[in-house]
Amino acid sequence: MERSDLVKPEIRSIAPYVPGKSIEEIAKKYCLSADSIIKLGSNENVLGPSPKAIDAMIKHAGNVNIYPSADAWELVVAISEYTGMPENMIVASGPGMDGLLDGLMRLLISPGDEVVISSPTFSYYEVSAIANGGTPVFVRRNDDFSIDIDTLKTAITDATKMVFICSPNNPSGNSISEQELRSIVEDVSCLVFVDEAYVEFAEQNFASLVNDYDNLIIGRTLSKAFGLAGLRIGYGIMPAWLKVEYMKAGTPFNVSSPAIVAGVAALSDKEHLNRSIELVREGRKYLADNIPFPVYDSQANFVLVDVSPVKAKDVCEHLLKQGIIVRDCTSFRDAGESLIRVTIGTLEQNRKVVDGFTSF
Ligand SMILES: Cc1ncc(COP(=O)(O)O)c(C=O)c1O
Repeated sequence: MERSDLVKPEIRSIAPYVPGKSIEEIAKKYCLSADSIIKLGSNENVLGPSPKAIDAMIKHAGNVNIYPSADAWELVVAISEYTGMPENMIVASGPGMDGLLDGLMRLLISPGDEVVISSPTFSYYEVSAIANGGTPVFVRRNDDFSIDIDTLKTAITDATKMVFICSPNNPSGNSISEQELRSIVEDVSCLVFVDEAYVEFAEQNFASLVNDYDNLIIGRTLSKAFGLAGLRIGYGIMPAWLKVEYMKAGTPFNVSSPAIVAGVAALSDKEHLNRSIELVREGRKYLADNIPFPVYDSQANFVLVDVSPVKAKDVCEHLLKQGIIVRDCTSFRDAGESLIRVTIGTLEQNRKVVDGFTSF
């Protein structure tokens, strides 16, 4: 017997997660100075965190010998104010929305259960489902990345526990319509999870629909528009009955106290949020207008560039040599080999990106 046979077979079958590349890794590989590298591969906020969040963490630093509140209620109150949804429908989660996904899978998935995923999309739904003994069933999006609602519904069986819809979708940037979403939620008896990681940059959000249905969950994060990716704060908006069950299965104290104080401060800093959104909206248009390849319309803080028939890896290599980190989407299931996702940067960074693509 190999030592690795001790690990559950479903875990051994998972392909390792492919994160965006780091500045240190690229500086070393291409002999570049770290300062000259721009990191646009992980959809982070290029303006950094809110100064109010930084102050809150500094003031709090001397108190980290004390456990945080078990359910991060201070953050739940702030999220309730921000979203307009009641506290008994909100769960604050760490680490990030990934932690929320794990918490839900642990609560809902038993061996043999299925989850339906509209691909290409964020890969952690698949990983978390498999790790918890579930079976992912993939429904490929249309060529324009819209969801074929009828095909999606057909994939849902008595074994389906959850359906995952990312809106705006990572990596394509498009959103589902309210009518389409309502039609899915009303038609199925399983839970529907809508991932709104990028919703602050979009034109619509679906939080208030959770008031209308007892099988709809919205996942959110403070990693993107709020610029707190390093603190790993997510939250879920879910029916009150589900929050009760979730809190029984969830890890207590799963949001750290620095994350709680910073999250509360960031949610109150409307100015920083609005600046972040404005920068993305302007940059998105600039990149779409100036990158010399087809660019998909995006509602998120990134754009998806189609470099076909060229391979994404060749264009990414060309950009990396110039110190520009973007995301080759080849590792996304059903994304093919010619798509590149570019996080919206500052004006100066966006110019560098356009120059990089133009010189390929
Ligand atoms: C669509 C989507 N959902 C969820 C996450 C995870 O967010 P968090 O940083 O809160 O774990 C990401 C991160 O990139 C994402 O792109």
